[in-house]
Amino acid sequence: MTKAENHILVIFGASGDLTMRKLIPAVFELSEQKLLPEKFAVLGVGRTALSDNSFRAKMKESVTAFSSHAKENKANLDNFIGKLHYTGINTSDIADYKLLKDKIEELAISLNIPCNIIYYLATPPSLYEIIPHHLYESGLNMPGCEKGWKRLIIEKPFGTDLETAKTLNRNLLKYFDESQIYRIDHYLGKETVQNVLVTRFSNGIFEPLWNRNYIHRVEITSAENIGVENRGGYYDHSGALRDMLQNHLLQLTALIAMEPPTVVSSTAIRNETMKVFQAFKPLSPDDVINNVIRGQYIASVIRGENVNGYREEKGVDPDSRTETFVAMKFFIDNWRWGGVPFYIRTGKRLPTRVTEVVIHFRQTPHHLFQSMKFLSSTQNQLVIRIQPDEGILLKFGMKVPGAGFEVQNVNMDFHYDSLKDIHLPSAYERLLLDCMQGDQTLYSRGDAVEAAWEFVQPVLDTWKNNPKAPLYGYPAGTWGPDKVVDALLGEAGILWRYPCKNLSNDGEFCEL
Ligand code: BG6
Repeated sequence: MTKAENHILVIFGASGDLTMRKLIPAVFELSEQKLLPEKFAVLGVGRTALSDNSFRAKMKESVTAFSSHAKENKANLDNFIGKLHYTGINTSDIADYKLLKDKIEELAISLNIPCNIIYYLATPPSLYEIIPHHLYESGLNMPGCEKGWKRLIIEKPFGTDLETAKTLNRNLLKYFDESQIYRIDHYLGKETVQNVLVTRFSNGIFEPLWNRNYIHRVEITSAENIGVENRGGYYDHSGALRDMLQNHLLQLTALIAMEPPTVVSSTAIRNETMKVFQAFKPLSPDDVINNVIRGQYIASVIRGENVNGYREEKGVDPDSRTETFVAMKFFIDNWRWGGVPFYIRTGKRLPTRVTEVVIHFRQTPHHLFQSMKFLSSTQNQLVIRIQPDEGILLKFGMKVPGAGFEVQNVNMDFHYDSLKDIHLPSAYERLLLDCMQGDQTLYSRGDAVEAAWEFVQPVLDTWKNNPKAPLYGYPAGTWGPDKVVDALLGEAGILWRYPCKNLSNDGEFCEL
């Protein structure tokens, strides 16, 4: 692994939720794993006026709350907290960037490092064009304090549709070039998502079967049991399609569907992702009506507790038609996948939190053993569990001991937590480290972001042009509008996998 060069991590939006819950705890974990460079500082930037010390106190609280290692070694924590600095500026006012520049230069001089800088935009998207523009105008996008690299990390949403995504890309490219822009999709930072590539391309047994001849369908589920919490204002303008499907789930699809890259390099892997996106069969308005289902949760009682419907959530329009659930059937038009349906569903306020990919293999051409006929589940399945209880499971038929030839499904499984001593890094740890090392492999490239929007744009258009297109209500805590969603599969006897049907009492944990 190449070691990251000495640098400064500048986080815009430093007093926001993302910084406190994810970014600073992730940087602390990197420090615990000894993966930070010798000379390193974090500079938090925000509108709130805070001294270094009060910023440090706030961050110490969040590291203690969100990082499992914080309590183990107080000296390490204090040493890490000492690397944090803060500057309060109005990020929309170019004049204030002079203060930022001075602060960066001061840090670079005191650390005796060139101005290698990562700018992380943990801000509302309305600032995605303003901040890069001001950095550019102030010379902070360039080796400003004359030497050193500059990288820019931005969080999704990258636009709200194809047009806005194109405009955002065009504008970003005025100020930074593509090799400096890191578009974060935190799903790609998940170990288990990366393991899709390793499972496929480091094992001789799967790849020969990984195509239309042996695979009947691919199913991807990403369920959340939480509602929109305090993000109603954002979510009501987004919805499940934009929030989860267009980015996280299509990226996951690309890893499942891509051709083997020739090398592990950011260009090779991202080229293969792009080819998958380009092969998505475009959705006609009829496809959208027939093959894309949307739903919205309604009030219900979950384990004895009253739960609000989506329209009662804070920040949500009481007449909102924003979807909190979406399921879709689509095809990838290429030699490997021609005719194989892909099914994706995602939603909030479902019974549990689980993300998994299920590869359903075709049935044997002939049912030699009678009981197989009745067990559609005797189709072999490879379940790739992204979270929780991360692992992989292969389902196959076995003879039930005793007379005759009764067949039963059994599981062969691997759980990550059986690798006891291994630290499973969070997505943000992995992605931040990659950016520090200048590796863009797990970041979304501009053209791929646009291609993903191009694929979902007909859904946005059709829903907009047909406001009466059905929006199904589903009681919070259920699997969405399940009857309609089941009908999407179309064939008798074919069902979605309903993971975690037998929930343990708290409903949070579900076994692979
Ligand atoms: C975010 C979405 O990108 O991903 C959230 O904006 C969603 O709405 C979250 O809850 C899910 O991420 P994870 O890692 O918990 O599956």
